[in-house]
Amino acid sequence: MADTKNFYITTPIYYVNDVPHIGHAYTTIGADVMARYKRMTGHEVHFLTGTDEHGQKIYESAAAKGMTAQELTDVMAENFKKLLPVLNISNTDFIRTTEKRHEKVVQSIFSKLVEQGDIYKDTYKGLYCVPCETYVPESSVGQGSTCPDCGRPLVEMEEESYFFRTSKYADQLLDYYESNLKAIMPKSRYNEIISFIKSGLRDQSVSRTSISWGIPVPGDERHVIYVWFDALINYLTACGYESDQSQMDKYWPQVHHLMAKDIIRFHCVIWPTMLMALGLNPPVRVFSHGWWTMEGEKMSKSKGNVVDPFEMVNLYGADAFRYFLLRQVPFGTDGDFSESAMVQRINSDLANDLGNLLSRTVSMIIKYREGVVPTPPSLASIDLELSEVARTSCELYLEKMDDFAFDEALKAAWTVISRANKYIDETMPWKLGNEGEKDRLDAVLWGLVEALKLASMMISPFMPDTGHAVWSQIGFCGDPANLKWEHYKWGEPTAGIMKVHRTKEVLFPRIDIELWAEEKKARDLSKGKVVDPGEHEPQIGIEDFSKIELRVGQIVKVEEVPRAKRLYKLEVDLGYERRTIVSSIKADFTQEELLGHKIVVVVNLKPVKMCGVQSDGMLLAASMSGHEGLSLLAPVEDIPLGSRVH
Ligand code: MSP
Repeated sequence: MADTKNFYITTPIYYVNDVPHIGHAYTTIGADVMARYKRMTGHEVHFLTGTDEHGQKIYESAAAKGMTAQELTDVMAENFKKLLPVLNISNTDFIRTTEKRHEKVVQSIFSKLVEQGDIYKDTYKGLYCVPCETYVPESSVGQGSTCPDCGRPLVEMEEESYFFRTSKYADQLLDYYESNLKAIMPKSRYNEIISFIKSGLRDQSVSRTSISWGIPVPGDERHVIYVWFDALINYLTACGYESDQSQMDKYWPQVHHLMAKDIIRFHCVIWPTMLMALGLNPPVRVFSHGWWTMEGEKMSKSKGNVVDPFEMVNLYGADAFRYFLLRQVPFGTDGDFSESAMVQRINSDLANDLGNLLSRTVSMIIKYREGVVPTPPSLASIDLELSEVARTSCELYLEKMDDFAFDEALKAAWTVISRANKYIDETMPWKLGNEGEKDRLDAVLWGLVEALKLASMMISPFMPDTGHAVWSQIGFCGDPANLKWEHYKWGEPTAGIMKVHRTKEVLFPRIDIELWAEEKKARDLSKGKVVDPGEHEPQIGIEDFSKIELRVGQIVKVEEVPRAKRLYKLEVDLGYERRTIVSSIKADFTQEELLGHKIVVVVNLKPVKMCGVQSDGMLLAASMSGHEGLSLLAPVEDIPLGSRVH
């Protein structure tokens, strides 16, 4: 495909019924890296992200919170907007599907397709997944009539609906993909879509009568436009469709859609056929990146295992977070998120490799050349070898970046960084300095600056602030983000008089692993996460459990036990009788805290004597292994004393 100098990149527009998490951050960061890279290769870039605000899910979320859908979307869209500067995202537009500019385009496209006969009215009957807002074909229904995507139960629905003639464009779509092998990447996703198309396409229902939160069908307002039909069109709205033809001419179809595998069918089947019906070219590329899980499980609010990007940036900084996500796993592959893996990478790749190379280079130039970067009178073979490694790594980097192979591109950058670190060890500049080998020392110091120059250009799309910091510390003006690759090579352009400078802040301070682990434990605890479950007991049957008689009681008297440091003597009212219970909870509660408290008591425990006092039962409390603090178990609702706990 001809590489024009205009580049349009998009993220999915995110549903606003959830707060942004690491998955959304990942796609947005990936798109940002590509946008920044393309600017450095001389492209004009249009970079779009935004929020998807219509549909039943949003409506229900709003109702559950006692808000109108518009009120909820206004609040929630802000969360996604706020994340952008935090992640250092360079988007050029942000679209909300409730904006007038979008609703106008959606209605106009709908009418146009009705007029030309590509949308028609019929009835739809089938199994519907409400959370996914999609009908599920018989062939894909999961076990027990569940949705194959989210696993939730399907409901039978029958409704009048408008349909888009997807099937009419099936052959044209197949032809397009067969002659554009990189239109869907990676290859596995391409193959998946081809076989899906070959299995036969059905026309797509594009309206709903069962919901009201959506864009009305023009001229038939009992229907609202199906949320996916509406959402996909955002890419056209924000490209100036029907509002700015010059923008359309510039960027369409140079559009690259980025997303995870969950939504590629919408993007690789429905969307291009809609475009074909409009007489427009399909997107040049849909790239499906991998899916992040957390400790092997799908992230979800209910499991409490969602990684919050705001928190990660707050703890580690945007650059380290961006670097880790794109370095840790190949972009097309699924990955499991682990904060400790991120800390290790920060220490090894950023603090150690990159940070040391920069600080050693800058310090030596200050020490031996008063900060002025020397020009080499001649070069030795070891210098030429370093330049050759840098040259081939840059070539590889550019090739990998064009293919969204971000981890490989970063590896190429680290090849230069590691080679330069090794070069310092091999050439021993301190020895050259002490022995007065001026020419050799000039060549080595210059070579290190060149290596750092190229490294900072390579890392700049991933870590914009770090790229800039390296660039300016080795004496360049401006920001590598604003320059073009074609003007920069090893040794070119020849530097004028450049002066390095050292900043007080270390680029990436080393993280002390032990301290970090302690701090993480405390953070997890404060979020109510189980850190260490301690020893587990062997399994028991229900018949064992039912032998324990548990009842609700109330503490009516608390006394100290003479000579016992940890014990209280409690009088507990069980409704039908009062009991004395001796309990080892003095370190955790004052007498006032306990008095009147409702608790759960084991009432059929054999009596025991403690410090001379007989205890006729035991109260229940929770604690975390290895941590101080105890929490009494109590019924949440007010319930009569003596009630049985099952
Ligand atoms: N609103 C639709 C998209 C419409 S585009 C015209 C939608 N929204 S979403 O909020 O559910 O976002 C899905 C996208 O978020 C995924 O395709 C992916 O880009 C990103 N991710 C959400 N969770 C993710 C992971 N756990 N891992 C990686 N990316 C994930 O679908």
